[in-house]
Amino acid sequence: MKEPFNPFVINTYQGKEYFCDRENNLKTLISHIENDRNVVLYAWRRLGKSALIQRLFDELETSKDYETLYIDLLATQNIAEAIQAISSSIYEKYGKTSSGLSASIQKLLASIGATISFNVLSGTPELMLGINKSEQPSQSLSALGEFLLSRKKRIVIAIDEFQQISDYEDNKAEAVFRTWVQQIPEVRFIFSGSHRTLMEAMFTEKKRPFYQSSQLESLQPIALEAYTNFIIQHFQTAKKTIEPVSIEKIYTWSRGQTYTVQLVCNHLFANYKKVTDKDVDTVFNQILVQQQAIYANFQKMLTRVQWTVFRAIAKEEPLQNPLSKDFLTKHNLGAASTVSTALKALERLELVVKDEGNYLVHEVQLARWMASL
Ligand SMILES: Nc1ncnc2c1ncn2[C@@H]1O[C@H](COP(=O)(O)OP(=O)(O)OP(=O)(O)O)[C@@H](O)[C@H]1O
Ligand SMILES: [Mg+2]
Repeated sequence: MKEPFNPFVINTYQGKEYFCDRENNLKTLISHIENDRNVVLYAWRRLGKSALIQRLFDELETSKDYETLYIDLLATQNIAEAIQAISSSIYEKYGKTSSGLSASIQKLLASIGATISFNVLSGTPELMLGINKSEQPSQSLSALGEFLLSRKKRIVIAIDEFQQISDYEDNKAEAVFRTWVQQIPEVRFIFSGSHRTLMEAMFTEKKRPFYQSSQLESLQPIALEAYTNFIIQHFQTAKKTIEPVSIEKIYTWSRGQTYTVQLVCNHLFANYKKVTDKDVDTVFNQILVQQQAIYANFQKMLTRVQWTVFRAIAKEEPLQNPLSKDFLTKHNLGAASTVSTALKALERLELVVKDEGNYLVHEVQLARWMASL
C-alpha cells in the first residue's frame, strides 16, 4: 500500500496508521469470528463500516489463520449479478497463479457457467457470467460454497451493502442467500449495510429468512477523546498544531461522522500550519460551497412541502416533535397531517432519520448547508 500524502484519508482504508481507534469494535468482531458467529454491521452513513471491515481483514490476514473475501453488492440488481460479484472476488483472490489460471478455479467457473474474457482496452482478464449456460442461482452458490470449503484456512466473507438484496427483482433472494449461508457453516459472514432501517428489518423481522441468524453490531461514532488524540498526533508529526477546542468544534459540526471529520481535517492539514478557530470556519464554508450544486438538486427531487419540512428539520435539529405547534408555526408548515405525510416520505428515502427519539437530516453536510439557507 502506498503512503498517502495527507494523513487524513478520505477514500478508503490505507493501513493501521491512518485508522483512528475502533479497538473495541475490532475486538468484538474478532470474538464473534473466533466463536463461529455471523455478524451484521450496520450504522448511519459514512461512519466507517467498510473501513472497519478492511481494518479487520488486515488483522485476520496478518494472523495467517484466515483468508478473507470482500464483496460489494452496491451495484448489483439481481441474484445473477450478486453471484458474479462473489465469483469475481473469488477469482481475484484465487484465480491467478504464476502459471496462469488455477485448475480448481477453471473447474469452478465452468461449473457456474462463467467465462473469462479479455478487456480489449486494458488487456486484463475480466469475469463474464455466460448467460446461456447460466445455472440455477442456488446451484451456482453451492458450487462456490464447495470451493470455499475446500480451502485449508478458515474463510471470512464480508458482504457489503447487503441490504441491496432486498431490492432484487426476484423476491426469493433473501431465502436463497440464507440457504447458502447455512450450507457452509464453517464460513463466517459479516453482513454490512449503509441503509440502517433496511438492515435492521432484514435481521429482526420474524418472517424474513435472516431473522435472528446473526449478531447485530451497530457502529457508533468514534469517541471524541480518541479522535482528539489521533488528530493531534498526526498534526504534531508534521510539526503542525491544532487545539482540542477546534477538534471539538469539528466533531460537533460533523455530528461525529467519521467521513466529515476526516474531510475537514484533511483540508486543515493541507492548508494551515497553526490551525485557528477562524480557519476551521473557513474550511466548513469551503466544503459546503463545493457541494452546493449537488445539494441544490435535492430541492428539485422533492415536492415543495417535503423540501420545506426537510429544511426546517435541518434548522431545528435535533428535533423531538415535528408535529408540535411551535415547530409548525415557526416554519410556516401548515397542517400537521400534511407535514406527517411529507415526513414519512423523507424517512422512507432515509433523508431524515430518527436517532434516539430525535429527527435529523441524515447527511450531515447537507444538514449544515440547509441550515445556512
Ligand atoms: N477509524 C477511522 N479512522 C480514520 N478514517 C476512517 C475511519 N473509519 C473510516 N474512515 C474514513 O472515513 C470515510 C468513510 O468510511 P467508510 O467508507 O468506511 O464508511 P461507511 O460507513 O462504509 O460509509 P457508507 O455508508 O458510504 O458505506 C472513509 O474515507 C474512510 O477512510
Ligand atoms: Mg461502506
